[in-house]
Amino acid sequence: SAPDPFDLILFGATGDLAMRKLLPALFLRDRAGQLPAEGRIIATGRTPQSRDEFLERIHTRFSEHRRIAKLEPEEWQRFSSRIDFVPVDAEDPDSFVALGKTLNNGSPTATAKRTRVFYLAVAPGHFVPLCEQLNQAGLVTPNARVVLEKPLGQNLASAQEISERIGAIFAEDAIYRIDHYLGKEAVQNLIALRFGNMLFEPLWRRDWIKDVQITVAEQIGVDGRAAFYDRTGALRDMVQNHLLQLLCIIAMEPPTSIEADAVRDEKLKVLRALRPLEGQQALRHTVRGQYRAGAIEGKPVVGYQDEEGVAPSSQTETFLALRAEVANWRWAGVPFYLRTGKRLQERSAEIVINFHDVPHSIFHVTYGAGHPNRLVIRLQPDEGVRLHLMAKTPGDRMRLRPVSLNLDFSETFRDAQEDAYERLLMDVLRGRLTLFMRRDELYAAWQWIDPIIAAWEEAGDAPKPYTAGTWGPAASSALLGRDDASWQEES
Ligand code: BG6
Repeated sequence: SAPDPFDLILFGATGDLAMRKLLPALFLRDRAGQLPAEGRIIATGRTPQSRDEFLERIHTRFSEHRRIAKLEPEEWQRFSSRIDFVPVDAEDPDSFVALGKTLNNGSPTATAKRTRVFYLAVAPGHFVPLCEQLNQAGLVTPNARVVLEKPLGQNLASAQEISERIGAIFAEDAIYRIDHYLGKEAVQNLIALRFGNMLFEPLWRRDWIKDVQITVAEQIGVDGRAAFYDRTGALRDMVQNHLLQLLCIIAMEPPTSIEADAVRDEKLKVLRALRPLEGQQALRHTVRGQYRAGAIEGKPVVGYQDEEGVAPSSQTETFLALRAEVANWRWAGVPFYLRTGKRLQERSAEIVINFHDVPHSIFHVTYGAGHPNRLVIRLQPDEGVRLHLMAKTPGDRMRLRPVSLNLDFSETFRDAQEDAYERLLMDVLRGRLTLFMRRDELYAAWQWIDPIIAAWEEAGDAPKPYTAGTWGPAASSALLGRDDASWQEES
């Protein structure tokens, strides 16, 4: 069913995220008939421009968008008629008065009843000033929600400061902290796989699982985001949020329901159970890397320090591998290997669950084509689940080889494609918080991350160079080698 009538106020509407993800997501849901007729989008940005100019920009971007492809005049008409543009500057209270006028459109009491969503697709330094201005201008109605994009702070202290100041204006259940990885189809499917089947749950523990590997590999570099990335690095940009959230979904106990707090309570317990990585432990169990010049798909690319906007002697990590442990009865002793990086060989994100080997093999086995006793959940580029098993090869001899059972989502569910942002935006409009991070989760994640950064800083740990287009520094393989394990790349 369509959500209630809404006003979505999009801050940073001319920015990259809005143009690339948010506006297309809203359009695609509109095309699918999921937006109510009375759904308005009020785009804001610092650069003054007319509504027509703004629409023109979106139109151009849409026509280049892979999933939008052919834009029919009627659907463009319907979507664009929802949109207004108001220039807003966080430093200028008058601009909030103008925003209020457009929002209320002569009838404040009627509009106050509608769902009001402030989506802050802006640099985090603007979160607090924007919320405070909205509050002062009297625009935070009882039905108002605020959506925050990461990064939510640079460490625990700054995350707390932001949360407390925003928490003074919006109630916790009106705050939607986006982690777009939670909106990915395969992550939803991981939840379905674990809690919709009886098959896996009894095996989902230390007795049967040898290790868990989570890889989010990217081919892109810092692409125009150098200023942000250079003070952030892979640990803060990817691990603190996306990879830890994936780890939580794998490691959490079965929640009693799919309601927001039931799921978030379980994820929080996992974050709190992470064995701290401090001092020498942090140095021993993490590997930082930074890319040097190399080639991606045969095309030469420059090294990180030569990217425009990056300090020439930057020590920021563009790659990170680490070994984590969840210290509880279910997982004690099971390594969770996390790895992410820019300019790696492939764009792929997947979770590999390695089960133990059989205790004693009675067969002649030919390995090479894979490894049995393994479940792989693939998030991208193609989404699916693969279960690797041993099977007999044809012939009169009893020879075994690993084979895989494949579930390819795009084949099985042909027309059900949905981008993470489509799902998450609809959840915000419908008031569903399950896929958003609660404040205590955010704190718990930073609490685990802070000592790692402190250990690096104290030791002056320099990132290890790796050639662009490879799988990262050799030390990343050595990290697993110590446990007699190795990274599994599927393709
Ligand atoms: C963002 C990071 O959160 O996720 C980016 O800031 C990264 O650095 C991106 O490229 C990856 O998202 P996806 O959905 O393309 O895997």
